[in-house]
Amino acid sequence: MHELNIPDSGNKPEFYAELRIQLEALLDGETDLIANTANMASLLYHALPDVSWAGFYFLKHTELVLGPFNGKPACVRIPLGKGVCGSVAATRKPLVVKDVHAFPGHIACDAASRSELVVPLVRGVQLLGVLDLDSPVPGRFDEEDREGCQNLGETLLRSLE
Ligand code: SME
Repeated sequence: MHELNIPDSGNKPEFYAELRIQLEALLDGETDLIANTANMASLLYHALPDVSWAGFYFLKHTELVLGPFNGKPACVRIPLGKGVCGSVAATRKPLVVKDVHAFPGHIACDAASRSELVVPLVRGVQLLGVLDLDSPVPGRFDEEDREGCQNLGETLLRSLE
């Protein structure tokens, strides 16, 4: 069993650097998409403070379909361009949403969600899907979280090669 070692989250760049080392250890020697995204969702959910949902949506044809996650049950299918996840999938650009109620078209899977971070996962020229984090705390995510999570996404993508 992997021993979860939750880093001190006082300094975000250091926190994400330590989390990345843990993620590399967790995914080491495994290339399976479901296994690695399931373990990464669990790691993020347990290590990140004030996060109520951490997981993946995968691109299938013209929509996103729910993948492994930790947190409450979520919406299964999200059309490209809809909600925060669908917008990120359509533009392939990450989004830090400080107040989900102010985001036009936000899809409320969990009424308690107040802020959200979504980063695209792009393999070569193909969009694999998105990593989605939800928080009950307004303004929970910032540019340091965005950068940290994009780096963690890179680690995931490399593990699948
Ligand atoms: N809020 C997301 C939907 C996914 S859930 O948060 C898990 C969105 O607007 O795309």
